[in-house]
Amino acid sequence: MAEQKIRVAVAGASGYTGGEVIRLLLDHPQVELAFLSAERSAGTPVGAVHPWLRNHPGAAGLKFRPLAELEEVDVAFGCLPTGTLPAQMPLLAERAKRVLNLAGDFRLKDARELAEYYPKTAANPPADEFAYYIPELSPTVPESRFISLPGCMAVATVYALYPLFAHGLVDPAVVVDAKTGSTGGGRGGSEQPAERSGNFRVHKLHGHRHTPEIRQALAEYAGAAPDLRFSTHSLDVPRGIMVTAYSTLREGVGSLDVKRAFAKSYVGKTFVRVRPAPKAPQDFPMLKAVVGSNVAEVAIAVKGDQCVSVTALDNLIKGAAGQAIQAMNLVSGFDESAGLPRTAVSP
Ligand SMILES: NC(=O)c1ccc[n+]([C@@H]2O[C@H](COP(=O)([O-])OP(=O)(O)OC[C@H]3O[C@@H](n4cnc5c(N)ncnc54)[C@H](OP(=O)(O)O)[C@@H]3O)[C@@H](O)[C@H]2O)c1
Repeated sequence: MAEQKIRVAVAGASGYTGGEVIRLLLDHPQVELAFLSAERSAGTPVGAVHPWLRNHPGAAGLKFRPLAELEEVDVAFGCLPTGTLPAQMPLLAERAKRVLNLAGDFRLKDARELAEYYPKTAANPPADEFAYYIPELSPTVPESRFISLPGCMAVATVYALYPLFAHGLVDPAVVVDAKTGSTGGGRGGSEQPAERSGNFRVHKLHGHRHTPEIRQALAEYAGAAPDLRFSTHSLDVPRGIMVTAYSTLREGVGSLDVKRAFAKSYVGKTFVRVRPAPKAPQDFPMLKAVVGSNVAEVAIAVKGDQCVSVTALDNLIKGAAGQAIQAMNLVSGFDESAGLPRTAVSP
């Protein structure tokens, strides 16, 4: 007998992350794509907006519809621009048994930080609380109907720092330098391709909204928040994030303690892979080893009391759609890896 499938909706399915959720779920054995929303592209066939999906037989009959027509589903993925979902929550709470939100709206718990970084959510707070969820670090699978997935640069940074803070190995002061590809800004981004091409530039040197999220996530999962300097830069690649974190080891801590902490933190974690003893440049995390996959690669290098930790991941998969599907798999009792690629697309 065929296994019963869960009915899934994607709100904001014509965007970059929504398109990735569709692409991965088209081959998920336990999912039926029941409803796909778009705003400007409502009424359009999926393959016309995402040409990379048009040859999948499962995409043939799929069209985008206005979000107001949302049907009853088991799971709804929120792939809307940050600030859009809060006003739609009454509709989603009524029609979806569970909501997995990829946007930043409901990540921050501190009211002052929420008002500073997410004013639209602060002005329109949800009736129900959202549980923040990083699958590899959370001790339990959340029972909440409403789940917030982490930001893409935030989670890359948290993977690089979690073992150091969870094991009390470094001083609080940390400098993080993050670089991200152009899809990080969404399909509606205003940047001209000609201005991005061949360029490498600053995105934000202070005040990125992922800064308080990183502090909050490390306080929650590692029990200690860093004193963080977080800067972001724009890479001339469509996908991928590389984060480099610089910290100082506490007195008496050595390279072996750091290696053990990373090994212990990520042992058995399918989608966070610690690079063993990297020496040559190609041994370290890199975009061509992760883009197209749900894998985050992590590595560390220690010299004296200086520690550098690095993460590379695909912002649209491990930083967004894949992470959300991993969460759906876990909360639904499916195999954690169902529908999720482990190999990258290269060259
Ligand atoms: N891009 C990333 O790497 C990444 C990573 C992690 C998390 N996120 C988060 O994921 C969310 C989606 O990002 P994205 O890159 O996929 O954005 P995007 O490419 O701009 O897509 C936005 C989607 O929302 C729809 N939409 C826009 N305004 C709407 C409205 N007022 N009502 C209903 N639907 C509306 C759009 O439909 P039309 O285009 O048809 O108008 C489109 O389907 C954002 O909150 C972002 O912060 C993104």
